[in-house]
Amino acid sequence: MEEKEISQAVISRLPRYFRYLGELKDEGVERISSQELSELMKVTASQIRQDFNNFGGFGQQGYGYNVEYLYREIGKILGLDEKHNFIIIGAGNLGQALGNYLNFERRGFIFRGMFDKNPALVGKDVRGVKVMPMEEMERFVKENDIDIAVLTIPKSGAEEVAERLVANGIRAIWNFAHVDLNVPEGIQVENVHLSDSLMKLSYNIGCYKREKDKA
Ligand code: NAI
Repeated sequence: MEEKEISQAVISRLPRYFRYLGELKDEGVERISSQELSELMKVTASQIRQDFNNFGGFGQQGYGYNVEYLYREIGKILGLDEKHNFIIIGAGNLGQALGNYLNFERRGFIFRGMFDKNPALVGKDVRGVKVMPMEEMERFVKENDIDIAVLTIPKSGAEEVAERLVANGIRAIWNFAHVDLNVPEGIQVENVHLSDSLMKLSYNIGCYKREKDKA
């Protein structure tokens, strides 16, 4: 089949489908129609069909989709059938919270190493992983088949650390530092700004209040 360019909007909806289908599968649901999935997820059935049509439709036959198959196929599209080794740079509050989160492993993301420039943190144990000094980062990345780096450091050091990571073979950066990183083509960066969704929440609270005041 010819490789088709899938829009980022569709890709960004896949994890949510994956999550819902995982729950349905765990509940023992075998088949689901796009209508039922639509009611559950509060998106239109036509959106679901359009999204799935990007990948050949996932063979909806007779009554609905086979949940297990759909879950597996979407997982494959997201690359979750492969293991990805990741490291965390910045062993502060956020870095340690992410390192301590168990569920990444369930999705195939394996926590391998943690680094910090603060000597006082070196040797600290975060879920079986000892914090290492920054000087060891390059060697570690090369020797341990690391493809994702999580940046939980302030923006001042982020660009330099990203450059060092990329030069040593990192393929993707999950960036929590508040800076837009300049990386070469082919390196994937996903910026996370938790406060964005908080601001959205604040906007929506305001909208709701204004509507109520009008009524
Ligand atoms: P923290 O101060 O507890 O931890 C930061 C750690 O990074 C410290 O251990 C420090 O020694 C280390 N560090 C600083 N510069 C470094 C460098 N160049 N190389 C290696 N290690 C370095 O801070 P916290 O709360 O863990 O937050 C980390 C960063 O993430 C902050 O800059 C904060 O602005 C950002 N942040 C971003 C969020 C988001 O949604 N994107 C949410 C929360 C924090």
